[in-house]
Amino acid sequence: MAKVLYSATMSLDGFIAGPSGDMSWLADYLGDNPVAAGLVEQIGALLIGRRTFEGDDPHRGTEKEGALEGAWQGPQFVVTHHPLAPPPPGITYVTDLESGVAAAAAAAGDKYVNILGADIARQALTLGLVDEVLVFIAPVLLGDGTRLFAFPGGAKIGLERMSQSEAPLATGVWYRIAR
Ligand SMILES: NC(=O)c1ccc[n+]([C@@H]2O[C@H](COP(=O)([O-])OP(=O)(O)OC[C@H]3O[C@@H](n4cnc5c(N)ncnc54)[C@H](OP(=O)(O)O)[C@@H]3O)[C@@H](O)[C@H]2O)c1
Repeated sequence: MAKVLYSATMSLDGFIAGPSGDMSWLADYLGDNPVAAGLVEQIGALLIGRRTFEGDDPHRGTEKEGALEGAWQGPQFVVTHHPLAPPPPGITYVTDLESGVAAAAAAAGDKYVNILGADIARQALTLGLVDEVLVFIAPVLLGDGTRLFAFPGGAKIGLERMSQSEAPLATGVWYRIAR
């Protein structure tokens, strides 16, 4: 049965995108990371927020453009209230988060559903649909942007560390959700 993983590369001050969705900073901290490279094999499907799907790609125009630096191929489910018809090849639009998670899990088999996007991750986390969180901490401060997890008024979600890793460009921390 698929597990649901929320993964992202985050600035030390907690942002996964800079102001206005700026992702140009990220290119300096990608690559040379065995944990990130190994994750590619473990992902069976992506569940992607529409803003992430249509957002900046720090590798746009290069061979690394696309999901997980262009290294991953497979079913991608894009969460949106406004699906375009027809979807681009390989993309399935889903208009409801819970059914989107279920569809992605069915497609992922016994691999991970990897969530990309903080808004949909926040909803999935607070609905109890996420099993694990993997964050690569980049040595940079951004000051503003999209937080890894933002919940007005606060929400406490306990985590248990599974592993941590050091790569030249980022520090990885991998947690399971405490149940
Ligand atoms: N650093 C990293 O590793 C990393 C990884 C991933 C993403 N990012 C960046 O982080 C930012 C993430 O953006 P974000 O968190 O604001 O948005 P997001 O989660 O990527 O996408 C949000 C969009 O998803 C749709 N949506 C959300 N909840 C929904 C629901 N319950 N039902 C139907 N549709 C729903 C809506 O699309 P509609 O408006 O179309 O309805 C909403 O605008 C982007 O800039 C992205 O490039 C960074």
